[in-house]
Amino acid sequence: MQRGLNLLQQFAGAFLQDVNLGVILIDTEFQLIDISDMACRVLGLEKKKVLGQPMEHIFATLPAEHQLVRRNILDGMVVRNHALSWTNNQERYELLLDSNVLRDESDQIAGAYIIFKDVTNLRSLEEQVQRSDRLAMIGQIAAGTAHEIRNPLTSIKGFLQVLRRTLQEQGMERECGYTEVMLTEMNRINELVNEFLLLSKPKNVTYASVDLSQVVRDIMPIINNEAILHGVIVQCDISDRLPRIIADREMLKQVFLNICKNGIEAMGDGGHLTITERVDNEERKVNIDIHDTGPGIPLFVIDKIFDPFFTTKEEGTGLGLSICQRIIHDIGGHIRVSSKGYGTTFTLSIPFP
Ligand SMILES: Nc1ncnc2c1ncn2[C@@H]1O[C@H](COP(=O)(O)OP(=O)(O)O)[C@@H](O)[C@H]1O
Ligand SMILES: [Mg+2]
Repeated sequence: MQRGLNLLQQFAGAFLQDVNLGVILIDTEFQLIDISDMACRVLGLEKKKVLGQPMEHIFATLPAEHQLVRRNILDGMVVRNHALSWTNNQERYELLLDSNVLRDESDQIAGAYIIFKDVTNLRSLEEQVQRSDRLAMIGQIAAGTAHEIRNPLTSIKGFLQVLRRTLQEQGMERECGYTEVMLTEMNRINELVNEFLLLSKPKNVTYASVDLSQVVRDIMPIINNEAILHGVIVQCDISDRLPRIIADREMLKQVFLNICKNGIEAMGDGGHLTITERVDNEERKVNIDIHDTGPGIPLFVIDKIFDPFFTTKEEGTGLGLSICQRIIHDIGGHIRVSSKGYGTTFTLSIPFP
């Protein structure tokens, strides 16, 4: 019996220390008796400060949820798989919550417990699947259309060049200027079509072991050039010894370019673009933060920025970020964005073997 009891105590202790499990214990007075470390972390509480406190005080900002628990204590109601979104500082957590009463030997209610798991990754996985379904369809349509546009475009361009030369030879300066404008506009269409083609599943992707530091170094001149045009200062703090990752080098460059360009375009003169890295050896991921001091992204916009064709720019295509997201997802990584009031940070999280 003693051994059994010990084991039970150890089990309870392990529960409270489990890094993946949120546990909250409450007595009949609705006071917090114990709370696990993970629950404190996710809910943003300090254990010392909340132990023994009434639940109404601790969760004063969240009446609906504590009512749920209170009712539970009073009526013995069981809660199973209750999904709850929780925002703590910048992080948003998706929690899945169970709760039930605890009874003493005489079957009287002695308290209650709440157990929850952080299912943020699962939920975003669900969203990713939906998104990539949609993206795949748009990609197919876009690619089909793009091919149809590209072929006539090539011949128009060819004839236009011939025409320009003829006009030049005949000294028709003004008409020659028109063809110049036409060719520039054609190039714009061509670029758009190329982006369309990227959105669809590209055919010649070559995955290889890639030196991430080298990729960043390779594209820095282009980013710097773009920055000078916009009067932006770029600071790149990337070590030369980042772990190698498995990716398509050219597509990876595309990702960095798109995100840096967005940042630069969002800022006016005097803006700062900072590129930094964090290597997470435990999770085996390289995190690259691309931070700008621009105006930030309003909340009602932030959910849409990865959607194909969503743009707030006069000349934007709205394809940049959706392409970036596809490329990063295909190598098992993810892109996160955080924008609070002022400035925006895009975080690329890429796994390494
Ligand atoms: N760093 C940023 N700061 C502010 N807004 C941004 C930033 N990056 C992206 N956005 C928003 O996301 C939208 C979509 O970006 P993107 O897919 O690259 O398309 P585009 O650049 O063609 O508009 C932009 O139009 C802009 O509103
Ligand atoms: Mg863009």
